[in-house]
Amino acid sequence: MSRITSTILTGDRPTGPLHLGHFVGSLRNRVKYQGEYRQFIMLADSQALTDNMHDVGKIHRNLYEVALDYLAVGIDPSLSTIFVQSQLPELAELSFYFLNLVTVARLERNPTVKEEIRQRGFERDIPAGFLTYPASQAADITAFKAALVPVGEDQIPMIEQTNEIVRSLNRIAGRELLVEAKALVPEIGRLPGIDGKAKMSKSLGNTINLGALPEEIRAAVKKVYTDPLHLRIDDPGHLEGNVAFTYLDAFDPDQASLAQMKDHYVRGGLADSVVKARLESCLQELLAPIRERRQQLEKDRGYILQVLKDGTDRAREVAANTVTEVKSVLGLSYFS
Ligand code: TRP
Repeated sequence: MSRITSTILTGDRPTGPLHLGHFVGSLRNRVKYQGEYRQFIMLADSQALTDNMHDVGKIHRNLYEVALDYLAVGIDPSLSTIFVQSQLPELAELSFYFLNLVTVARLERNPTVKEEIRQRGFERDIPAGFLTYPASQAADITAFKAALVPVGEDQIPMIEQTNEIVRSLNRIAGRELLVEAKALVPEIGRLPGIDGKAKMSKSLGNTINLGALPEEIRAAVKKVYTDPLHLRIDDPGHLEGNVAFTYLDAFDPDQASLAQMKDHYVRGGLADSVVKARLESCLQELLAPIRERRQQLEKDRGYILQVLKDGTDRAREVAANTVTEVKSVLGLSYFS
């Protein structure tokens, strides 16, 4: 396809099955852009290990689950290259050099890392690999000379830090060897959890997984946080912080009639149960084909592994080229 101009590199830590937060945050963009750009999607198993050394089996199990999720939502292996981070030693090699282009103070200031350290209660007992994972993420992105990175908005600081490393390395190179990247974040922002917390996340237990069964979807929608002040049907309802409406904004294909429903809710006279019935039917419709495709693919483990193996081989070649260039710029090529 001659229209393809830029490269995308993106990925996820395989620590659990993907959920609607991933779908809104990045998967929709990845499916949308896969024909337009050269896209690499990485299963970040090495990065996932930086805070999971106590439970390495978890990463191994979930790698396959996330690969299934990718294919089930419509990532097409003939358009996108799906690969496994740990199988590209070139990425570890590049990270090793990049670690000398960041300071500990800068890593400690990275808002994403800071927030994750807080969530995990690490205090000062942070695995060094965890603190430094922004350098490894910079290696992931730059190894592919990616200009675009479709991710959720929580990853924006990662891209900023990547670009600082790119500029430092390019200064050494005296040319634009590595490419600055741009985060591609969805307009709708991050999806809250069903409990109304700011983020849908497995560790908070407030997710709806892409493979959720119909009865799981129904149970989750029942629990979706709405408006605590909307006690009687006739009371005026509030949209702000009302997760049922946030989800309808994200998933309802009929936004015009949704706007009318919102007016009615705000005026009063519309029950939460009516809003939730609409939400449930949207989610059931959205997830049914994904779940069916997932169940179909699950039967053929060999196919999934082959997709990952082929993708990994292709990705490795690209990354190896970049590492050769970087080493040469750093004066680390002696025999050619
Ligand atoms: N940090 C990302 C996450 O938490 C995963 C990831 C690793 C990634 N390397 C990347 C995302 C490079 C985009 C680009 O899920």
